[in-house]
Amino acid sequence: MVKIAPSILSADFCNLERDIQRIHTADWVHVDVMDGAFVPNITIGVPVVKSIRRHTDMFLDVHLMVDKPIRYVGEFCKAGADLVCIHLEADHPTHIQQALDIIEAHGVKKAVALRPITSPEAILPYIHQLDMVLVMTVEPGFGGQAFMESQLKTIARVREIINQYNPQCDLEVDGGINHDTAEKVVAAGANVLVAGSAVYGASDIPAAIASLRVQD
Ligand code: DX5
Ligand code: ZN
Repeated sequence: MVKIAPSILSADFCNLERDIQRIHTADWVHVDVMDGAFVPNITIGVPVVKSIRRHTDMFLDVHLMVDKPIRYVGEFCKAGADLVCIHLEADHPTHIQQALDIIEAHGVKKAVALRPITSPEAILPYIHQLDMVLVMTVEPGFGGQAFMESQLKTIARVREIINQYNPQCDLEVDGGINHDTAEKVVAAGANVLVAGSAVYGASDIPAAIASLRVQD
């Protein structure tokens, strides 16, 4: 079963409680944290995740687009994240492993994300211990960008690696997902779909979420 994770990057931050309530038919809430260094944009941080946690029981999928995430993963776990995802490009491999160990020690699910430039094989040293791999289907930083068709090959290769080494691991895709691209990424092997503008830009949000639930 495909899981749908609307990104609150496209929500109204002055009405975040209302906008999280509006996606209650989805599976997860995707929270995009950007630091203005790993990516050019700045969004939200630990206090906002803490507040969101007080207002919803939904699964909080926290996507950290920050340099040296080891500095912050513990704080996001304590703030109430259910899953913390760090970018493989954001630090040296030893620090990536240490950051994953910190997430694990908090009893929180752990994931790594790949920018479009990063080879699928980069997940090999970590795959056995991961709960999820996130394949970016746009360059991280902004909502509303066009889906990169070239990432379908990366999704398919990551699916092969997951099936070989850790079949329980989820494969999430993020960027430019709508009803049409959802079919392609699910066919390539994705099972968690992030969507910002396709959900919050729709006049009927439950219908938009339902239209992303394509068959796998
Ligand atoms: C982009 C973020 C995405 C973004 C997706 O860097 O990681 O989660 O919100 O937005 P859409 O679905 O509009 O491409
Ligand atoms: Zn994201």
